[in-house]
Amino acid sequence: LSPAAPSVILETKKDCYSANLQYFCLSNAISVVRGLGSALKLDLSLFSTKSLIDTDPELIVEVRNQRQQVSDENWELNGRAKTWKCDSSPSYTTLLKYAKYQANSFQEAVREQKLKVAVKKFRQIKFATNLDLSDEKKWSKQIGEMAKLPPFMRFVSSANMLSHVGYKVYGVNTMQMYLKVPGCRTPGHQENNNFCSLNLNIGPGDCEWFGVHEKHWKTMESLCDKNKVDYLTESWWPDLEQVRERGVPVYRFLQKPGDLVWVNAGCVHWVQAVGWCNNVSWNVGPMLYMQYRSAIERYEWNRLKLYKSLVPMVHLTWNLARNIKVTDRRLFEYVKYVLMQSLKQCQLAINYVHNCGCDLKYQARQPDEPAHYCFDCECEVFNVLFVSEQAVEPAKKSHERVQHVVHCQACARKRNHLLDNFVILNQFGMDELRLVYDQFQLYVPGVQSALGATIAT
Ligand SMILES: [Fe+2]
Ligand SMILES: [Zn+2]
Repeated sequence: LSPAAPSVILETKKDCYSANLQYFCLSNAISVVRGLGSALKLDLSLFSTKSLIDTDPELIVEVRNQRQQVSDENWELNGRAKTWKCDSSPSYTTLLKYAKYQANSFQEAVREQKLKVAVKKFRQIKFATNLDLSDEKKWSKQIGEMAKLPPFMRFVSSANMLSHVGYKVYGVNTMQMYLKVPGCRTPGHQENNNFCSLNLNIGPGDCEWFGVHEKHWKTMESLCDKNKVDYLTESWWPDLEQVRERGVPVYRFLQKPGDLVWVNAGCVHWVQAVGWCNNVSWNVGPMLYMQYRSAIERYEWNRLKLYKSLVPMVHLTWNLARNIKVTDRRLFEYVKYVLMQSLKQCQLAINYVHNCGCDLKYQARQPDEPAHYCFDCECEVFNVLFVSEQAVEPAKKSHERVQHVVHCQACARKRNHLLDNFVILNQFGMDELRLVYDQFQLYVPGVQSALGATIAT
């Protein structure tokens, strides 16, 4: 139940760009790609804390306040019993202030080692998370450096489903960084909508990883239940004994500077910093049946749990149908099925609006307009938007007294079954959507070129 983590050592750029590497990453639950940094001659110093503060010292960063613990244990605040629930309270600071904290923490440790001071148990530590490096102007060097990665790893690539969302979803299709001191923890989780993720360790210290195959996520969820912590919305650190008692294998490995960890779709994972280090991370969506299916399943699960899906899968699916040629039959059929469900839902929503004696107001979607989410249940709302006026909370500093918010059909009906006081917007014509649906066909390269030849002659 402690299998060796799938790992591969890269030596040359050719190794990095080989189809074998992609195949390797996509066929294991989690993989360590060792030596990627040096094989691609990446300039990792661009991601050092010093480079970051040279670029934007006043950047606001989210901090998680945690306690330093042994990597396979998690203790209650009073230190009397083990627990799954993590204390990880959030606060905010600037990049410069965190940089000073990180440097001081290192110097203090060196001093303690010299003086042979016993290390204090459960020392308070700070973890700077989700640093946003999406701004192309400000972070052009860092973004340029990551463009050296093989195409299947890039955040902008036509082969990456997440590039087809069409706008920035922070940390999903944009780069984020994590700045750490020893003991900083990323609690257990699956990625947003079960997309793949990659994580490059900048160093200088190592990170320790734990990973569980997607097929065991339900067991992990039930263990969370048993330990009275919510799988989706709370922070938890698994007890390895309890996981093994359920017969679930756990991959456990070290990620050294320059090593990349590829987290495959749906893999449950948790990470602890061994040393002082920075990490770079984002999500990718390989154009594969297994990825798409896993993302849609999680999308449905999130909806049942009233948990927001950061990736708007219906909006994304329509974009995929417009933009890409699918050669895999299973992927094609699943995408087509989701399009059909969406078409049906749009038609039912329109019928309901008309039956209520209301009108739809056509308002075309703007090119970079983000997907809409329901104000009440946080599900994605596609095409038919039920808009109402809500009073602005007094706490929010705004000159407006009311704001316009979007609801899904179900929540709008719950508020008022005849849709009084709702404005209903329609972003696409049904004909337009039907055309996209009809034109989305399985792409068979041989047949298509033969047809092309027939037309040409
Ligand atoms: Fe992750
Ligand atoms: Zn709703």
